[in-house]
Amino acid sequence: MLVSTKEMIIKAKEGKYAVGQFNINNLEWTKAVLLTAQENNSPVILGVSEGAGKYMGSYVAVVGMVNGLLKGLKITVPVALHLDHGGYEGSFDAIEAGFSSIMFDGSHYAIDENIEKTKEVIKVAAAKGISVEAEVGAIGGEEDGVIGGGEVADPAECKRIADLGVDMLAAGIGNIHGVYPANWTGLKFDVLAEIEKTVGSMPLVLHGGTGIPSDMIKKAISLGVAKINVNTECQLSFAAATRKYIEDGKDLQGKGFDPRKLLAPGFEAIKATVKEKIELFGSVNKA
Ligand code: 13P
Repeated sequence: MLVSTKEMIIKAKEGKYAVGQFNINNLEWTKAVLLTAQENNSPVILGVSEGAGKYMGSYVAVVGMVNGLLKGLKITVPVALHLDHGGYEGSFDAIEAGFSSIMFDGSHYAIDENIEKTKEVIKVAAAKGISVEAEVGAIGGEEDGVIGGGEVADPAECKRIADLGVDMLAAGIGNIHGVYPANWTGLKFDVLAEIEKTVGSMPLVLHGGTGIPSDMIKKAISLGVAKINVNTECQLSFAAATRKYIEDGKDLQGKGFDPRKLLAPGFEAIKATVKEKIELFGSVNKA
């Protein structure tokens, strides 16, 4: 049965580890993440962006697939199904479809509008026991047209959103989605420390987990990060393993064209990436 992220991230924050959010794209992705979490006795969060939800045939289809796998694969570790960067309408749609956790990303609105909309999402979600992640407005860093720094949140705005009763808060500290550019200046730990001081026990979320060096991940966890999102890294592992299979001509040998064979190396590659992250985040045996 799906659970909200509430309990797992409170435990993580207290225990000084983080729960991984791994974004899913299809059946293979979902199975790979669920089986790896189960094998490592770790709680896990399945992230679904609005685009991935459409790709998989609707939020209702995603809920059906995930619930079916939980039962069919006898998954007993805590699993949350979380909308990643949901819009205002999308958040209500995912709640209606049966998601157990929602990120309402109002960071592109002015702070007052972000607050009003976040409040409305919390009202509907809380009545159903669904956890809510909010994101705080940000200042981008750009040089020569290249984003080098990532977003940096204002701790006072973080406090205003945290006080609304969200379960977790995503605050920019120089992190960005996708592969980090060569001129990336790293995570801003002074800002993270300031935010943590301001919001107290609120679990913090680190987006853009792909490519952040291990020592920075560990330091972020020590400063209150209890949920870390990883998406691109699984895509890169999957693509590299699939590329190798094709380049080695394996699809041309025997029944190598069978999708169950063709997608197997990518599936194993996702499992290896998820295992590596679960170990780094410290959530092994925390189910
Ligand atoms: P990456 O794709 O950089 O791992 O970021 C994932 C993320 O933050 C999803 O919200």
